Amino acid sequence: MKAVQITKYGGQDAMQVNDSVERPTAVEGQVIIEVYAAAVNPFDAKVREGLVGDKFKLNFPAILGGDAAGVVAEIGEGVTGFEIGQEVYGAANALGGHGSFAEYTTVVAGQLASKPKSVDFVTAAALPLVGASAYQALVETMALQAGQKILIHGGAGGIGSVAIQIAKAIGAYVATTAASKDLDFVKSLGADEVVDYTSQDFSEIFKDYDAVFDTVGGETNSKSYQVLESGGTLVSMVAPANDALVAQYGIIYSTQSSRATTERLTNIAELVDAGKLTIHIDTVFPFDQAAEALEYLKTGHPRGKVVIQVK
Ligand SMILES: NC(=O)c1ccc[n+]([C@@H]2O[C@H](COP(=O)([O-])OP(=O)(O)OC[C@H]3O[C@@H](n4cnc5c(N)ncnc54)[C@H](OP(=O)(O)O)[C@@H]3O)[C@@H](O)[C@H]2O)c1
Repeated sequence: MKAVQITKYGGQDAMQVNDSVERPTAVEGQVIIEVYAAAVNPFDAKVREGLVGDKFKLNFPAILGGDAAGVVAEIGEGVTGFEIGQEVYGAANALGGHGSFAEYTTVVAGQLASKPKSVDFVTAAALPLVGASAYQALVETMALQAGQKILIHGGAGGIGSVAIQIAKAIGAYVATTAASKDLDFVKSLGADEVVDYTSQDFSEIFKDYDAVFDTVGGETNSKSYQVLESGGTLVSMVAPANDALVAQYGIIYSTQSSRATTERLTNIAELVDAGKLTIHIDTVFPFDQAAEALEYLKTGHPRGKVVIQVK
């Protein structure tokens, strides 16, 4: 089969399209998906560059890619609830070397669900990691309620653009930060208040918030503590807690490790099919340009998601 592999850690040049990669077979607890589309995430570049940490050493050659949408091709022993030909989406086993930038990929059954019925494969592929990240943070960790106020950083990005819509579906009041060019976009997603992070200081504008969702880190993270009221919750996708600031502001802090579980994916698909969540696809790249797709995500300031068309 055709797949995008790396044989060593590196940048864009390390990625090679290989036409004669052995097709994976399903082992216990896993499902083989014929991939129709795969989305790119900042995590894919971190895997490629060897930045994911000591415990995740890849065996080379390794196929990159996490998010996948496609059709069930083979079912491993012990897997229930899926059938051959079913249209699905989920998180491929990139850290095991069998990522989604391939004609066939392996997915642990617990990280797979029926794809939303109302969207195509390209749109479904854009959802697993960003959808699960936003759902896990807002619905589960924060238990965000109608009428509460949340500040979402990076509202025009993959996770932020989904988080705004989930917060609005809950009935929360939503403030967000985005670049000048993206202010109208985040308003169109439902944001009640927007701040241009290139020219305004959000920490001087927003006070007494119930929750902050940080998808950016750095100074954006450290200035977010003061936006919260005592007892508020800060969930960060990137930054660890500053214990002194947690104590000073009396907040609850969580650094998230996202997981696209079947349950989260099923709930996200329901939101999509109910018309409460739309995914903005910035650009679709052909399969042979997976390296360009990752580079564009890193440097092109896309709005929403970047997807690779595999089939
Ligand atoms: N811990 C986990 O399990 C986990 C899981 C998934 C993702 N992540 C991490 O979460 C982060 C976000 O992921 P993503 O997929 O949403 O990335 P993304 O699609 O690249 O979005 C990031 C967004 O942040 C915006 N931004 C940059 N600097 C900003 C600032 N100072 N203030 C406000 N917005 C700013 C970017 O806008 P511009 O276009 O203006 O640059 C972009 O829209 C990444 O670092 C990713 O690795 C962690």
